[in-house]
Amino acid sequence: MRELSLNILDIITNSVEAEATRVILVIEEWQTRNLLRVRIRDNGRGMSDDLMSRVLDPFVTTRTTRSVGMGLSLFRQIALSTDGDLVLQSALGVGTTVTVDLRLNHLNRPPLGRISDTVVNLAIGALDVHFYYIHHTESGRMIFDSFRLFGYMEETGCGLYQTIVPMKEKIQRQLKAIHSSAL
Ligand SMILES: Nc1ncnc2c1ncn2[C@@H]1O[C@H](COP(=O)(O)OP(=O)(O)O)[C@@H](O)[C@H]1O
Ligand SMILES: [Mg+2]
Repeated sequence: MRELSLNILDIITNSVEAEATRVILVIEEWQTRNLLRVRIRDNGRGMSDDLMSRVLDPFVTTRTTRSVGMGLSLFRQIALSTDGDLVLQSALGVGTTVTVDLRLNHLNRPPLGRISDTVVNLAIGALDVHFYYIHHTESGRMIFDSFRLFGYMEETGCGLYQTIVPMKEKIQRQLKAIHSSAL
C-alpha cells in the first residue's frame, strides 16, 4: 500500500515550489478520537479562490510539463476512503494550509511510512527553507526543527551528509517514545 509519507512529500513539495520559506508539518494521532490529522502550513505565494476551487479536481494543474496534477486530489481521495477529508485554506501572498483528516483505525488508512526519511530529505534538499515537524500523540509530543541541523553539525563536527542517518534515527526514536502507532 502507498505510504502517507509520500503524499505528505507531494504536498510539501508544492509549498517549496510556491517559494515558501517556512513549512510546518503537524501530525496528530488521537486514539481516543480515532483521528489521524495531518496539517501542512506554508508561507508561500498562496492560491486564488479560483485555483483553490479547481485544484481538488484530478484534472487540474497549473504545471505545463504534465497535464494532470495529482498531489492534492489523490491525498483527498485517500482521506475520503477512510471517512475523512482534505480541506484547503489559502490566501494570495500569505500562504496555504492543507488539513487532512483520516480515521486512524480505518481499514483503508495507509501507514504513515518513513516520515523521518521524508522530512530529513526535504530539509537537506532545501536548506534555506525552515521546516518544522511536530508529532502529537496521547503520550506526548516530538518536535523536529530543520535549522537545528546546523547546530548539530557544529557540535559534532559532522558534515551535512553525516548528519542524515543520525537525524532520521533520532526522529524514529522520539516517535517510538511517544508511542506513535500510525507508522
Ligand atoms: N502550497 C501551495 N501554494 C501555492 N500553490 C499551490 C500549493 N499547493 C498546490 N498549489 C497549486 O495547485 C496546483 C495543484 O497541486 P497538486 O495537486 O499537487 O498538483 P501538481 O503539483 O502536480 O500541479 C499546483 O500546480 C499549484 O499551482
Ligand atoms: Mg504537487
